[in-house]
Amino acid sequence: MGGKTISGFSKLSKMGKIKWLVENFFKDPETVKRELASYLLANEEQQRILDGFSENTISNYPLPLGIAPNFLVNGVTYVVPMVTEESSVVAAAASAAKFWLDKGGIHAKVIGTLKTGQVHFLWYGDPELIASHADELSAHLITCSKDITCNMDARGGGIRNISLINMCDREPGYYQLMVEADTRDSMGANFINSILECCAQALPVWFEEHLPDNVPVPEVIMSILSNYTPDCRVHAWVECPVTDLGDFEGELGPEEFARRFYTAVRISHIDPYRATTHNKGIFNGIDAVVLATANDFRAVEACGHTWAARSGKYKGLSKCSVTDGMFKFELEIPLAVGTVGGLTTLHPLAKRSLEMLGNPDASTLMQVIAATGLMQNFSAIRSLVTTGIQKGHMRMHLHNMLLRLEATEKESAQALKYFEDKTVSFPELRKYIELLRSTVSAKSL
Ligand code: MEV
Repeated sequence: MGGKTISGFSKLSKMGKIKWLVENFFKDPETVKRELASYLLANEEQQRILDGFSENTISNYPLPLGIAPNFLVNGVTYVVPMVTEESSVVAAAASAAKFWLDKGGIHAKVIGTLKTGQVHFLWYGDPELIASHADELSAHLITCSKDITCNMDARGGGIRNISLINMCDREPGYYQLMVEADTRDSMGANFINSILECCAQALPVWFEEHLPDNVPVPEVIMSILSNYTPDCRVHAWVECPVTDLGDFEGELGPEEFARRFYTAVRISHIDPYRATTHNKGIFNGIDAVVLATANDFRAVEACGHTWAARSGKYKGLSKCSVTDGMFKFELEIPLAVGTVGGLTTLHPLAKRSLEMLGNPDASTLMQVIAATGLMQNFSAIRSLVTTGIQKGHMRMHLHNMLLRLEATEKESAQALKYFEDKTVSFPELRKYIELLRSTVSAKSL
């Protein structure tokens, strides 16, 4: 393996780590070293903060922060910060938000804000005995957690419920303590995990102290929050008379558009292949805002997909109805996010993203994020049932393709103009750039 493995790597200085990396894994160590250094922040203090978010950091990995204006949510106008590497996502969200701007905008309502965690344990005693003590055990565990919960209690949050769940029909001796908590404006992962670990310690002690001597003591297997938070959920929707939808490209009238749109959403409820892509489109928008506000996009995605499969079959997350001449398009989704704590206020640009949104509380952020997911989905389906997505998508992708072809500023400007009214594809673009270049070199002969 030579220099490709190392022990004590984490103890090296940043420069030491970079030196080892570039010397062992790159053909041109000096160039790579310079390139990695070029992405570091000039402000050393800010760089130190970023480095602190992770481990073994050698550089920063920039992604564009875009903004989608004209989001009217519950009568308030937002400009939505979006971090994404996919071209056309921000443009699509902005275009849909603008479409709904004069139709009442987007409506959103938080259905619940409860987050959950579980202590998983094994116990081989009499199930009726433990069931008869469940309330007493729950009250005891809530009291034991007071040191952890007192500040959150003072802010109006805290533990809402601890229930004992008998899962012995699925695994012999398997029980859970299910903790539900309101973490107010924080995402609350550390808060919940601390409560769970406290409960896990208190559990066997309580058995020993409160149940007869011959009763076995439970064995805690693990304690961890659940990223499935169906009771931390938000509903976002748009609606208008079908006739107000107007006309669409391809001479598509509003009724025909509504019928095709409805069918497209319906297909996502029937076919998991389509549902997956449908939901991916929704998460194009959701993840981008979750990332821009330094929330945990993996948690949000994992939760959304479990929610999408709650009936036992994976389905599209949005719904559409066309009833009595009214078009309604909606999204109901669990979203566990925070606006205080974690990285939300440590990451300098996340802090600005939140400021741009008016420093919202967690519930308002849930509404804005759901609205963005809904708009992203509206835009994708609108394209799919009218022009197809490639027309708009490839135009947005044009810049990336020009970069790949190392087009100059002049060539790019010419290409953008040329493809204004044409279908873009990489081979066509390459042909066009090659033609431009050959004309220029022929002229200079
Ligand atoms: C592309 O990133 C997302 C879409 O495929 C979503 C969809 O098909 O609904 C356009």
